[in-house]
Amino acid sequence: MITINDEKRQAGETAAQLITDGMTVGLGTGSTVAYFLEALAARIREEQLHIIGVTTSFKTAAQAQALGITIVDIDDAPTIDLTVDGADEVDVQMNGIKGGGAAFLMEKIVAKNSKRIVWIVDQQKVHQQLGSFPLPVEIVPFGHGKLVAEFAQQQLHPVLRLKDGEPVVTDMGHYIVDLHLEVIDQPEELGKYLDGRVGVVEHGLFLNIADEIIIGQEHGPAFLLRQNLQQ
Ligand code: A5P
Repeated sequence: MITINDEKRQAGETAAQLITDGMTVGLGTGSTVAYFLEALAARIREEQLHIIGVTTSFKTAAQAQALGITIVDIDDAPTIDLTVDGADEVDVQMNGIKGGGAAFLMEKIVAKNSKRIVWIVDQQKVHQQLGSFPLPVEIVPFGHGKLVAEFAQQQLHPVLRLKDGEPVVTDMGHYIVDLHLEVIDQPEELGKYLDGRVGVVEHGLFLNIADEIIIGQEHGPAFLLRQNLQQ
C-alpha cells in the first residue's frame, strides 16, 4: 500500500521532470519539496544541467546548498521560470492554504515573481472547500495580543503558534496566528479583511496562484491544471 510519503515523493519526482536546462527555479519549503530537491539535484548531477535556485526559507536554502544546487538571492534573479512548492490544503478550484511550515511569506513573494507555479501535494490535502487546515497569518510581534483579540472577536478562532511555550518566530522575524475556521466560505473576502488589518504581514490564502497541481496517489500522479482536470 502506498503511504503519504510515497505520494509526496511521487509528486516531487514528477515535478523534477519539468525542469529544463538553464532554468531559474523557485524552491518551495516542506517535506514534499524535500523530495523534489533530491530528485532535482540528481538530475543536475546526472544530466549536467545549469539550474539556479531561488529559495523560500532558510531551511530550503540549507538543503539546496547541501545537495549542491546553486542558489541566488531573489533580487539577483532577473526571472524565476518555474516555482515548485508544497501546500497544506488545496481545493478543486486550485486555491490553497500554505504556511504550515511557517514559510508562506517568502513563498508568496517568490510565487508572485514566478512565471509558472506548480504545487506538489499528497491526495489527503485535496478538498472541495478550504478551511480544514488552520489558516496561518503572519503578524508583527508588536501589539500581537491586540490583533489576536480582534480575530477572536471576529469569530476567527485564532491560536498563536507556539514552540516550547514561546511564539514561533518566522525567518522574517514575525509571529504566526493560526485561524481554526473549519470551512472558509468566502476566501476572497477573508483575504481582503486580513490584508486590511494593521499588523498583518501576510496570510496563507493562496488564491488563483497555482498554474498546476501534481497530486501523488496510488496509481500514478494526477494533475490539476488551471481550468481543467486531467488524470
Ligand atoms: C511552508 O510554510 C508550507 O507552505 C509548505 O509548503 C506546506 O506546509 C507543505 O508542507 P509539506 O510538504 O511538509 O506537507
